[in-house]
Amino acid sequence: MAEVVIVGSEAEAGEIVADSIQELVAQHPDAVLGLATGSTPLSVYRALAERVRSGRADLSAVRGFALDEYVGIAPGSPQSYRTVIETEVVGPLGLDPARVQVPNGTLETIRAAGADYERAIVAAGGIDVQILGIGTDGHIGFNEPGSSFASLTRVKTLTEQTRRDNARFFDSPDDVPVHCITQGLGTILRARHLVLLAFGAGKADAIAAAIEGPLSASNPASAIQLHPHATVVLDEAAAAALSDRDYYRYAWANKPEWQGL
Ligand code: PGA
Repeated sequence: MAEVVIVGSEAEAGEIVADSIQELVAQHPDAVLGLATGSTPLSVYRALAERVRSGRADLSAVRGFALDEYVGIAPGSPQSYRTVIETEVVGPLGLDPARVQVPNGTLETIRAAGADYERAIVAAGGIDVQILGIGTDGHIGFNEPGSSFASLTRVKTLTEQTRRDNARFFDSPDDVPVHCITQGLGTILRARHLVLLAFGAGKADAIAAAIEGPLSASNPASAIQLHPHATVVLDEAAAAALSDRDYYRYAWANKPEWQGL
């Protein structure tokens, strides 16, 4: 099962995950990170950026693959995940933009974009740490309910709920694209370490279903139950619907010193 870590704040979660990434990069300067967008991973990026600014970490050789992108959105528009990754991750973390890829949502080349992305991940030797958020409908990446656990990077249709959830980044809800290109659940499961973060009461049901519910394509995040090394970092509100909270706290309090995240 996943290791479930319940923390007091988003900032604390960010520090814990940043510690683990900093340690990985110290050993493997060109480690491959899977980069989620959205609000959830920002605490991790902030913590890493602070370490880079203060000279404690150097991420300039790190390679990155974003999880997903909207289809048909103008390249360079503020809502494109290419832009978000550049402004929130590449710049602040001092990554080399040439080493960071985002699925190509350009309409003209969309048919081949999924297979191209899979090839690029394989050529990089696979993803070492995949950072993940979770949607209120249980999606990870943009793998909406019903996504195959074997799916690879491909075009998906966003649910109305996801479009509503993401409307805050757009001028109008109608501007949220209907299609996206996302790493599949199969792609995500190939990463060597999954780190799923969730904060706030709005994520509590999705988290309980993912960690303690049945394995089901109807609940895409339940795929993490199949992964041999998955870490779930939650605040109290996001952990509130978990039945085994006390056990997770007990296991974390008794975590062996030698064992990293
Ligand atoms: P959020 O989105 O981090 O902005 O809450 C998560 C997701 O939809 O995967």
